[in-house]
Amino acid sequence: MTRVLVVGSGLAGLVAAVRATDAGHRVTLVTKAALSDSNTRYAQGGIAAALFPDDSTDAHILDTLRAGAGLCDPAAVRVLCEEGPARVRDLIRFGVDFDRDESGITRGLEAAHSRSRVLHAGGDATGAAIETALVATVQERAKRAHALGGDQITIHEHTMLVDLVLADTPGSPRVTGAILLGPGGAQHTVSADAVILATGGAGALYRHTTNPAIATGDGVAAAWRAGAAIADVEFYQFHPTALAVPGTPLVSEAVRGEGAVLLTSTGERFMPAIHPDAELAPRDIVARSIAAQMKKQGGAPVLLDATGLGRDLLESRFPTITAACRAAGLDWALVPIPVAPAAHYWMGGVATDGWGRASLSGLYAVGEVARTGAHGANRLASNSLLEAAVFADRAVRALGEPEQRPPLFDDIETDILAEFGNAADDAGTLVDRSTLQEQLWEAAGVHRSGSGLTRAAVTLAGWRAVDRAEATVAELETGNLLDLGRLIVTAALAREESRGAHHRADFPDSRPELARPRFTRRPSSLTR
Ligand code: SIN
Repeated sequence: MTRVLVVGSGLAGLVAAVRATDAGHRVTLVTKAALSDSNTRYAQGGIAAALFPDDSTDAHILDTLRAGAGLCDPAAVRVLCEEGPARVRDLIRFGVDFDRDESGITRGLEAAHSRSRVLHAGGDATGAAIETALVATVQERAKRAHALGGDQITIHEHTMLVDLVLADTPGSPRVTGAILLGPGGAQHTVSADAVILATGGAGALYRHTTNPAIATGDGVAAAWRAGAAIADVEFYQFHPTALAVPGTPLVSEAVRGEGAVLLTSTGERFMPAIHPDAELAPRDIVARSIAAQMKKQGGAPVLLDATGLGRDLLESRFPTITAACRAAGLDWALVPIPVAPAAHYWMGGVATDGWGRASLSGLYAVGEVARTGAHGANRLASNSLLEAAVFADRAVRALGEPEQRPPLFDDIETDILAEFGNAADDAGTLVDRSTLQEQLWEAAGVHRSGSGLTRAAVTLAGWRAVDRAEATVAELETGNLLDLGRLIVTAALAREESRGAHHRADFPDSRPELARPRFTRRPSSLTR
């Protein structure tokens, strides 16, 4: 029996916890907020899978590779698309009630998909439906274990990952647990044979994001500090259409899939002149085109015109967005709504192989915290929930296998921060989170340039975070964001080309010789 510590309670963490419990491992599940608080809960569009007779695995693979702009790992994409349908059936078994009509499960179309293959639940409340079903499943497992007098799964809410613990075995460091900050405010260490990171993304790095405030990249930052390989951190996806009101709620791509169009502030369509697929062009292209249009119109948001879809469809298919519009005083059945890009999904993260294994023994990463290679430089819409389900399942299957770390990680650069100084020496100004978010938005956002990135790198190098041994949750998070901000800015500076979500004004084209991921790790790892 393996002692497994799962960190995070979105789709990836919950699937990992349930699967590991069912496989007979002893599971401790910790999560920073309440069990149901996660990025998963906010997913609208749905989960893509080639489940329908007019679709095929190969078509899904092709769409994923095309969106990934030459940077996908084809083996990871194949796993994703081949195993996706089985994992969606698992979700149905766990109680997820996908929307249906008289002919069966219904599906939507999203940008860069050649077929309608996006399953949804509660109209546009897919993530909430998945989270609710999985929370109930994991709680049922815990209740059952408790009734039998066992502790096969224990759940700790309001418990934050501070850092990973490494065994000091020279040459082959092994993760043996984690330092956690519990609800009482004290740090403690939990030992484990395997740690599965499922901590999600880091939208809180940016001034505008569709993510909840808890998305502070805690797992990537801890893995980086521990010396695990990370990859592709320069690729942050900006969703084209967040409602341009405080809180920037997501306006699902599925709305454009149903026929809504983008308009300038004076009411003209602009996407048809930019891409043959117009509003359904790949996400990075639509986001950049909107940002460019906003610049032309003095920063004002563009408009999303969904009035042609009719009130009945808008209210039944998109109840979450309808409510967000209403809360902002907008009736989107009558008037076009203001939208703008916002940070949405991180393609980069902890480098893993096809079984969720990171470069350090004992460490696994699943969901948005991981860089599996399935998304490349630009994730295909609605592939994120699918990736989380597929690779969480695989990581648990790998737990039973003899420890083998992937050769993929042999070619790792170290010390990418050397030029601008590594984090957290005692000198420097204490980092302020909103100033950091501003810097990242301006320098490492939708449009980037060498000069802007260099300025940001120098600025961030002059900041320091609170000592982690004494920090509060908010201070730990801000320290993580500073580490990650440095990594993103430095990696974006090093990638002298434009590809997928990474776009540089000074290198506007893709360079074929750079069509490869960059693996990097910290030269010396942290152990406590
Ligand atoms: C959306 O509904 O537009 C978001 C789906 C995704 O990010 O995959």
